Amino acid sequence: MRVLGIETSCDETACAVVTDAADPSRRIVSHSLFSQMREHAPYGGVVPEIASRAHIEHLDGLVAAALSDAGLELADLDAIAATAGPGLIGGVMVGLMTAKALSYATGKPLIAVNHLEGHALSVRISDDVPFPYLLLLVSGGHCQFLIVEGVGRYTRLGTTIDDAAGEAFDKTAKLLGLGYPGGPAIERIAKQGNAARFNLPLPLKGKPGCDFSFSGLKTAVRLALESCGQSPSEQDKADLAASFQRTVMAVILDRAKNAIALFDAAHDAKDRHFVVAGGVAANKALRDGLVNLAADHGMHFTAPPMALCTDNGAMIAWAGLERFRLGMVDDLEAPARARWPLDSLAAPKPYAGVKA
Ligand code: KG4
Ligand code: ZN
Repeated sequence: MRVLGIETSCDETACAVVTDAADPSRRIVSHSLFSQMREHAPYGGVVPEIASRAHIEHLDGLVAAALSDAGLELADLDAIAATAGPGLIGGVMVGLMTAKALSYATGKPLIAVNHLEGHALSVRISDDVPFPYLLLLVSGGHCQFLIVEGVGRYTRLGTTIDDAAGEAFDKTAKLLGLGYPGGPAIERIAKQGNAARFNLPLPLKGKPGCDFSFSGLKTAVRLALESCGQSPSEQDKADLAASFQRTVMAVILDRAKNAIALFDAAHDAKDRHFVVAGGVAANKALRDGLVNLAADHGMHFTAPPMALCTDNGAMIAWAGLERFRLGMVDDLEAPARARWPLDSLAAPKPYAGVKA
């Protein structure tokens, strides 16, 4: 089985061909990715209109490259998958319409993939983690705990009530003048910093449940930076980055303990699995913290390889493949959606930001 996947929901134009090979190391047959980082960097964040245009310019070439690198023609594919949301609507439409055109022209089934499901199942490309598993999904747009019950079946345990974790990294990086995207930049300079220097608030720490809140942290970072005077030194910035990262990790680990309890209350599984996914899962300090936490709770811990944490085409192709083998295909009416929760029964958070 071979599935082509297209990802265009934010600032990466990406494409991949995956198979259901028994050997995980052979599942990604080819992948191509154009990062729009340089297009957006001058603006300190993603500009939706620039993103849509860049997707239009690059997508056809990336599809052709993914197919030729795989040594395949369109006729060799079994299905064509694309992100249908949530995300920046212009970009989502570019990828979904391209997939619909390819599906219509070839007669191959279309699979409209939820980008969050792409992240949620991405770990199963490299490791055959069985359902159900506890998932921490931490990206630039989302920060939630979910029970992944199966393909298309999710129970949300908690989510952010304002900003996403990645968004907090990006906003802090902007305050520190580190540019976009912020996560990798903060992680880099935090290595030279004193994480104990600034005491930032720990939002919701110790409260029941596993919701998150990060918007107050951004204000605390701004005040801490102002306390360093007119022109903070490189060391001030490194100390603040390290203190910020330590605080985010402490909040996530505190919330994760409650999420584990909620997972255990819902499932009586002998082998319990904790999975992290999404762009912020590329953060080494976070991965290390979660490895220890899972071990303390007798859980197996699995994270996708770094390259599969941030947005990519393979995770969309893989989610498409998992759906396709269960007979879950879509028709050409499938809509592009700016918002599309994984757990449709979970109550919306009224104060959650546009991205959260
Ligand atoms: O999953 P992703 O590529 O896109 C979304 O679906 O949002 O996640 C991007 C986010 C950005 O906010 C970026 O700053 C963050 O992931 N990120 C990181 C790291 N690498 C990417 N945050 C912390 N540490 C990192 N190493
Ligand atoms: Zn993403």
